[in-house]
Order: sequence, then C-alpha cells, then structure tokens
Amino acid sequence: MKAIHITESGGPEVLKLKETPKPKLEKNQILIKVKAAGVNRSDVITRKNMDTYGKGSTETLIPGLEVSGEITEIGNDVSDKKIGDKVCALIASGGYAEYVAVDSSHCLPVPEGISLTDAAAIPETVFTVWFNVFHLGKLQPNEKLLIHGGTSGIGTMGLQMAKALGSKIYTTAGSDEKIEFLNNLGKAINYKKEAFEDVFKEEKIDVILDMVGGDYTQKNLEILNKKGRLININGMKSMDVNVNLRTIMSKNLILTGSFLKPQSAAVKTQIAKEVEKNIWPLFNSKKIHPVIYKKFKLADAVEAHKLMESSEHIGKILLTME
Ligand SMILES: NC(=O)c1ccc[n+]([C@@H]2O[C@H](COP(=O)([O-])OP(=O)(O)OC[C@H]3O[C@@H](n4cnc5c(N)ncnc54)[C@H](OP(=O)(O)O)[C@@H]3O)[C@@H](O)[C@H]2O)c1
Repeated sequence: MKAIHITESGGPEVLKLKETPKPKLEKNQILIKVKAAGVNRSDVITRKNMDTYGKGSTETLIPGLEVSGEITEIGNDVSDKKIGDKVCALIASGGYAEYVAVDSSHCLPVPEGISLTDAAAIPETVFTVWFNVFHLGKLQPNEKLLIHGGTSGIGTMGLQMAKALGSKIYTTAGSDEKIEFLNNLGKAINYKKEAFEDVFKEEKIDVILDMVGGDYTQKNLEILNKKGRLININGMKSMDVNVNLRTIMSKNLILTGSFLKPQSAAVKTQIAKEVEKNIWPLFNSKKIHPVIYKKFKLADAVEAHKLMESSEHIGKILLTME
C-alpha cells in the first residue's frame, strides 16, 4: 500500500510517499480501506519532534490520528462490525495510508447525511472535545463556554457541539474573516484587535477550552465564573505559565487538561460509546456537521501541512485516497 512517512524531524518536506506493507490485524482490530484521513495540528508537532517521540532518523512513522473508510477485514474477536461497513475511527498513528488497522471499539458508523470522505474530519475533534469539555469540564446546558482558536478543527466542532447541547458560546480567532464565520455560532472576537480578557470580563464564563497557554492562562482564570473550569489541550504560545493561586482559590476554580493520544484503549472505548450516544444524534439530525476547509490527495500531504502551519484555514484539512 501507499503511505506518507515522517522520515525525520523537520519541515513539511520530510513527509514522503512510500510503498509500505499493509498492517497486520490483531484479533480485536478491523482493517479499514481508507477513504480519507484528517490532518491535525498534532501531526505537525509529531513531524517536528520525531526524535523526542523515540524515532531516530533511521526509523519512520506514518502520521494520522483519524480516518474514514470501508472495513475489508475483521479480527477473530470482533463481533460488532462486518466487512463492508462504512466507518470512521480514532487511531494513535498510521492514518495517512491506504489501509489502517484499528481497535474495533474506537471505530463508529459514519453518521447519517455525512459523506464517507467528510467523516474523516470527525473522530479526533469530537473525542477531544467530549473528553475535555464534557467529561473533565462537565459543561452543562445553559452554562457559558469559551473556546480559543474557534476556527481550528477542534474549535469549529466544539463550538457546534456545545451550542447544540444548549450552552452559550464565546470564542476568539486571529482574523476578521475568521470572526465573520464564527459570528454565526456565538460571540467572537479578533484577539489581534481586542483583548478577550477585557471584552469577556463581565460574562462570567463557566468553562474555557484553551490551546494557547502562556499569558492566556492567568487571563482565562480571571474571567471564569465561580466554580469555573479551565481545560488546556495545548500551549501553542507556551506550556510554561504563571498563575496566581489566589484567583483559583477565591473562586473555587478547576485548572486541568489532557492529551487524548496516550489515554488507554479502555478510556477511548468509553469516549466512543459516549459520543455515539450523545453526539451522533446531533449529526444525524443535522444540528452539527464537520467544517471542511480543503481536501488534498495523499501524495500532496506536504501541501496540506504547509496550509495547516499557515493557520489560514477555517475548519478541517483532509487527505483523500482518490
Ligand atoms: N490535548 C489533546 O489531546 C489535543 C487533541 C487535539 C488537538 N489538540 C490541540 O488543539 C489545538 C487545535 O488542534 P487542530 O488540529 O484543530 O488545529 P488547527 O486547526 O491547526 O488550529 C489551530 C489554530 O490555533 C490558532 N492559534 C492560536 N494561537 C496560535 C499560535 N501561537 N500558533 C499557531 N496557531 C495558533 C490558529 O488560528 P488563529 O488565526 O485564530 O490564531 C490556528 O488556526 C492544537 O493546538 C492541537 O495541538 C490537543
């Protein structure tokens, strides 16, 4: 099969299309003939840091955390799926390829009304948002949610999910074009023109999902309501932050965060069950949908990574196997 490999730490040009053996199936897995793979910021981080991921320059890694496609083989222990099923799946790596082997319980049916290709944009965002905003952050209907980076893949899905489940939405992004898109979802500000900590000061936000870190952390804590929850999923400005404990203690705040990739298989299975129950009906009833910005052929993964690093996109970038 053909697959994109990260050949060494570096820029987009280290992504190379290579002929690779098809993955071997374990008994709890299914083999998916991939229709499309989602491109995530995490793939860019992995590509830049191959050495720290334990892969020296002689080894390569197939990136990709989510795919959609058709099941072509079933492991001996799998009883809830069949060959020919159209699915989307969360994976730890290996999505930028024509075939991928996946734990069957991390794999869900393509929602009604969503094309097989577009379904590749769903798993990483929905699993991440569910685990962080709803499981760790315990966001409730009628509470107020702020997501920074509202036009990211995570943002475009998370804002829709929270709005559909009854929350009031706040968000930030870095251009007027992005704000125009986000205004349909909630109150959005261009952080390059306005300070979010001033604009949202009186709003008493209940939950914040943050991927920026750095000086955002203390500002986030300051605008949270009593018993508010700040959940971090990255620190794109900086992972090292200064916080004033008095802000946390005086309002009984919770400061937390997570990485999805290293969670156990059992946790991912539990998230899959919860999103199928709580979020899949929102796709089926057309209350939410993946926002796709651009699709590239697998062989053009370099261009897909360049676009992601430009941060021009609104929503998801996909690689297709056409
Ligand atoms: N912890 C986890 O398990 C987990 C899982 C999935 C994703 N994530 C994280 O969640 C974030 C969103 O992921 P994604 O794949 O949806 O990414 P994405 O589509 O590439 O979006 C990232 C957006 O963040 C904004 N941004 C804000 N500050 C930035 C900075 N200093 N440098 C670069 N961009 C900046 C950019 O838009 P503006 O124009 O608004 O600046 C950019 O479009 C990423 O940081 C990713 O690593 C974490």
